[in-house]
Amino acid sequence: MTAQLIDGNALARQIRADVRARTTALKARGIEPTLAIILVGDDPASQIYVKHKVNDSSETGLNARLERYPAAMAENDLLARIHALNADTAVHGILVQLPLPPQMDSHKVIEAIAPAKDVDGFHVSNAGALMVGQRGFWPCTPHGCLKMLDSIGYPLRGKHAVVIGRSNIVGKPMAMMLLARSATVTLCHSATRDLAALTAQADVIVAAVGKRNLLTAEMVKPGAVVIDVGMNRNDAGKLCGDVDFEGVKNVAGWITPVPGGVGPMTRAMLLVNTIEATEAAAR
Ligand code: GUN
Repeated sequence: MTAQLIDGNALARQIRADVRARTTALKARGIEPTLAIILVGDDPASQIYVKHKVNDSSETGLNARLERYPAAMAENDLLARIHALNADTAVHGILVQLPLPPQMDSHKVIEAIAPAKDVDGFHVSNAGALMVGQRGFWPCTPHGCLKMLDSIGYPLRGKHAVVIGRSNIVGKPMAMMLLARSATVTLCHSATRDLAALTAQADVIVAAVGKRNLLTAEMVKPGAVVIDVGMNRNDAGKLCGDVDFEGVKNVAGWITPVPGGVGPMTRAMLLVNTIEATEAAAR
């Protein structure tokens, strides 16, 4: 069996087209959707992520305001800057790129962002809203994964989803989103004993650990949907996920590639959250 590919690039392109149309409609009303992106320090990966976010915004007509600060910035100065952006009605979304330098408490920084502008969906208010089934901003990566499942018309009700990785920004919110769709969810992590026994029962597997070849063909039930959130490098330095793609594609029913899978969807969902923040502010 050869799995069908879920093309994150193609789906993200459709989502960006929708965001572009909504941006145009807002601009016709004199509203310029604006995302403030804060980068503290010069972490190389963060610089690349931020560049993508700025480019994606510009391509869809959103105004991205990048603010760069030195790694030695004091936490209080960052908090003051966030408070100013919270009060600025011309700014609809605020994103603080993580990780932050060690002198900063990232929880404290994220909690300083007004929940209505927290387009990452990391604030406890948005995380709590997801937990109790209220409206709020959903974190971009798991939301993108859910959109990929929707794109193939996958009926989650009653299905068993195994999510591997319990981070606050992927694993935990992913589990909540799948539960909200009436899937049965097993949330695993790196210390889970006999992971293969659990994944072998799964109809859907979301791998989000950051470990190459975490999921191999013998761990997957024939026909299962495999979503690969991992971002790793192989021995040749090429980007790869947590899934042994070459092996698993012969067993799974559907699979997401790396690159070209979850990555572009994460980026697209940030644009969706930003346009939604703007529309909500304009209501
Ligand atoms: N660092 C790595 N991923 C993310 C993300 O999705 N949002 C933010 N703010 N920082 C990150």
